[in-house]
Amino acid sequence: MISIAIDGPAGAGKSTIAKSVAESLGFIHVDTGALYRAIAFYLIKNNIKNAEDINKALKSINIKISFEDKCQAVILNGDDITDLIRIPDVTLLVSEVSKLKEVRKFLLSIQQNIISENNVVMDGRDIGTVILPKANVKIFLTASPECRAKRRYLQLQNSGINCNYDEILKDVNLRDIADTTREIAPLKKAPDAILVDTSSLSLDESIQKIIEIISNKLHS
Ligand code: CDP
Repeated sequence: MISIAIDGPAGAGKSTIAKSVAESLGFIHVDTGALYRAIAFYLIKNNIKNAEDINKALKSINIKISFEDKCQAVILNGDDITDLIRIPDVTLLVSEVSKLKEVRKFLLSIQQNIISENNVVMDGRDIGTVILPKANVKIFLTASPECRAKRRYLQLQNSGINCNYDEILKDVNLRDIADTTREIAPLKKAPDAILVDTSSLSLDESIQKIIEIISNKLHS
């Protein structure tokens, strides 16, 4: 199986770029952030707050991801929650949830099952470091916080979600701190990952650049 790992902070464009790259390679695209978001969504729905209760709640959570038409759908206990996991409440909580050891352990096996059966482009925070340490190609995608916040703002506006740029920038900065400083599987560039800063690149230019890096690596 061939695997491509794409890691980076919030709003670096990972998911959009990974999806497009996967399409061009004929691989499936796995957005691992959606798994953490699904857990955060469940906890909000069921008003579960403390770590001990969260660990207990994992026993009642069944998450599946399906790839109809190569598009990822997230199924939580039988319900399709693909769109619901993007709401701001989930975004606010998700980094708190993703730092918990039991949560990461719970989601590890879901990710490993997918990798063992498919050629993947997988994006997240710990893909090149923990989930796919032997990935054929590793990319670390980044951009300035302002640039990432602006992109996220436009993305939410375009999908009809009401939002405020300053709040998004605050969230981006807070999540950067939470994701890079947590004890388990923090966001960091794997030593063998290629760093790509997309601050001054358009989406199309970023996609072209990543495809170029991948094909050079796969054919070297
Ligand atoms: O798309 P966005 O950058 O907003 O974030 P995401 O990829 O949906 O991930 C949401 C959150 O899940 C991140 O801020 C991390 O706290 C967590 N996450 C993680 O810990 N490990 C991953 N492999 C993917 C996401």
